[in-house]
Amino acid sequence: MANKNIIAIDGPAGAGKGTLTKRLCEHYCFAGLDTGSLYRAITLCMIEMEHDMDNINLEFAIELTRKLSDTHKILEYAKNPQIRSQLTNKYVASVAKIPEIRDIMRQYQVDFGLNPPNLEDGRKAKGAIIEGRDIGTVICPDAPVKFFITASPETRASRRLKQYIDQGETANYQDVLASIIARDESDKNRATSPMRQADDAILIDTSLNNKEETFQFAKKVIDEKLKIVLE
Ligand code: DC
Repeated sequence: MANKNIIAIDGPAGAGKGTLTKRLCEHYCFAGLDTGSLYRAITLCMIEMEHDMDNINLEFAIELTRKLSDTHKILEYAKNPQIRSQLTNKYVASVAKIPEIRDIMRQYQVDFGLNPPNLEDGRKAKGAIIEGRDIGTVICPDAPVKFFITASPETRASRRLKQYIDQGETANYQDVLASIIARDESDKNRATSPMRQADDAILIDTSLNNKEETFQFAKKVIDEKLKIVLE
């Protein structure tokens, strides 16, 4: 039977979606999908093929996405740490706004929600958590639990800066902040599946809560909303 335990988590870059998803997946034995990593994987592959990222050739990008998705190579790229480099960050929004690419990726995400893969230790997943920008609005509009995670651009820029430094990259705060603001604008204002809080999503501002408080709050909501199926 198709899985119905689906949690949709949306919000802008650096708001803490990944941290919350990981923690919730561990707690509930759910499989997690970071959909941003799929768009990042396509972008990285194009960069590695030395495609002119300032003038993306649509036909090429769509064909490549189809190939990466059909062969499941997209998952290999998604594991490459370079998907989080500044260069990938610079171009990923241009790739993610291409409607045909989103269409190909949508089916992948819907399938993941309905048939979540086994957990890394081989156990069967009890549900799925999918995180991105349009999960609660477009990909899984019927998800029984939806969160929209946000934080101020300044808080998110500080977190990203730390991430770059930990990765051994050089970066400065003002550039990171400008890049976060530019990506927010692109994600919010694109024509296809813009980032938007679903009407029935619960808003969490992680500038105001630490990781533990955010987890406990989300857990309380999930325990109430998924009571029947988790018992
Ligand atoms: O969450 P992230 O920063 O890894 O996302 C990378 C990019 O992909 C970002 O520009 C938003 C875009 N994205 C999207 O358009 N839809 C999603 N479901 C997930 C990410």
